[in-house]
Amino acid sequence: THRCAKALQLTLAVIKPDAVAHPVILEALHQRILENNFIIVRSKDLVWRRQDSEKFYSEHAGRFFYQRLVEFMSSGPMRAYVLAREDAITHWRELMGPTKVFRARYTSPLTIRAQYGLTDTRNTTHGSDSVESAQREISFFFPDFSQETWMEREELGFR
Ligand code: PPS
Repeated sequence: THRCAKALQLTLAVIKPDAVAHPVILEALHQRILENNFIIVRSKDLVWRRQDSEKFYSEHAGRFFYQRLVEFMSSGPMRAYVLAREDAITHWRELMGPTKVFRARYTSPLTIRAQYGLTDTRNTTHGSDSVESAQREISFFFPDFSQETWMEREELGFR
């Protein structure tokens, strides 16, 4: 039976179009996920229509960067992952580093955004920021995936 000292948590991680456009970066980020003891529960490559992008970022509607963010995120292929591990949400966000690429380079040069980010818009990755947003975002990207069922099976040791 599979036992964990702490419960597994799910998060949504997205590799944004700027990074997916470069196969070497995409592969490096995939390795980074594996090296950091995440379980890849689901993954898929997809392209958003503009309306998907607007819906996903609707909480930012009206902010100065909204249009460019929406446009960028529907500009080309992305890769989305459902990841599991202990404290998955915090761990993925720590690996990504700060949203702002220049801050990331200055304060945390070994993070993903510091290493691969181009601008505050083209900042390579997204990660859920809370349990609630992880649930919402996983359903948004993977509507057929039952988080509840997966977690129940995991607790029973069926991995
Ligand atoms: S906040 O204030 O905490 O809600 O914002 P934050 O989480 O830092 O950012 C939310 C998303 O908006 C993107 N963002 C930007 N895009 C373009 N230009 C600027 N200046 C900018 N500031 C923030 C940021 O990359 C976040 O996108 P996701 O996909 O959620 O990482």
